[in-house]
Amino acid sequence: MEEKVKQLTEETVSAIAACNTTAALNDVRVKILGKSGALTALLRNMKDLPPEQRPEAGKIVNVAREKLESAFSDRQDELLRIESEKRMREERIDITIDEHIPLSGGLHPLTQVRNRIVEFFTSLGFVIADSPEIETDYYNFEALNIPADHPAREMQDTFFVTDTILLRSQTSAGQIRMMEKVKPPLKMLSPGRVFRADEADATHTPVFHQIEGLVVDKGITMCDLKGILDLFAQKFFSKSTRTRFRPSYFPFTEPSVEVDASCHRCGGKGCNVCKGTGWIEIMGAGMVNRNVLANCGIDPDEYTGFAFGCGLDRITSIIHGITDARIPFENDIRFLKQFR
Ligand code: PHE
Repeated sequence: MEEKVKQLTEETVSAIAACNTTAALNDVRVKILGKSGALTALLRNMKDLPPEQRPEAGKIVNVAREKLESAFSDRQDELLRIESEKRMREERIDITIDEHIPLSGGLHPLTQVRNRIVEFFTSLGFVIADSPEIETDYYNFEALNIPADHPAREMQDTFFVTDTILLRSQTSAGQIRMMEKVKPPLKMLSPGRVFRADEADATHTPVFHQIEGLVVDKGITMCDLKGILDLFAQKFFSKSTRTRFRPSYFPFTEPSVEVDASCHRCGGKGCNVCKGTGWIEIMGAGMVNRNVLANCGIDPDEYTGFAFGCGLDRITSIIHGITDARIPFENDIRFLKQFR
């Protein structure tokens, strides 16, 4: 009897240890301690023993029973803990993941810089003027002193819709529309999209943005142009930025210049941003050509003016260090969200 109990106890202890779930543990418990369990059967069989052996045998079985009960309950606690940990792990919700929170929108970096430029020039008294993206040859070329067979037409690869209708290749078309309507003194700023049949690469996109400026009054000189552009460059790049004019050619301005700003990165010493020159080109400009004033019914002997055409994409790239002209058009959220 004693031997049997000992063996059963040992077997049960290892069966308990082998259980991996509370359900399996419960099965073992029923098999041993249940109504028809193995230990219960031993207890029941005690009536077959001689009466003097019964108290001793009863004690042995009860000790074994207590031992097994506490082994069951320890293992039960352990398994409950393991199972609950497993459930916690599996059902875990990471409340720090924000993928379901809708992203808030923001203004595109080009729009932000355009708004700042508009604000700067309106604070100097410029009025904002819109003009059409689909233009006639007259406004885009002819009235700007670029007749049909003028070689300057080759400077801009234009998208023609018909022989006389085109997608404007420059916001300068807006100068003519303005001067036809408003007589000097006038100060106009005209931001907008322009189109050129260029293959997209790191420095070209078939659509880009210009901001046209035009001032016409009595006694306007190139010094006025220089003064305003210095202020502009200092406002948008840095306080110590300088500008320089390089002689250039545009049919609608005379004299014409390319405007460079001293490199914001190296301050003019020469670096990889300015390709070692110390200068970065920011726009074309010049004094409004007499023919253009005359085309708009403004007397060139009485009035003079300056005009500039600034590349918004270029200014934005300089400010934000964008190295490929295509990126702002791709609308990749990883790019855009840096500007929210
Ligand atoms: N329209 C010229 C261009 O697209 C820029 C410009 C504007 C130059 C006004 C002079 C004056 O290149």
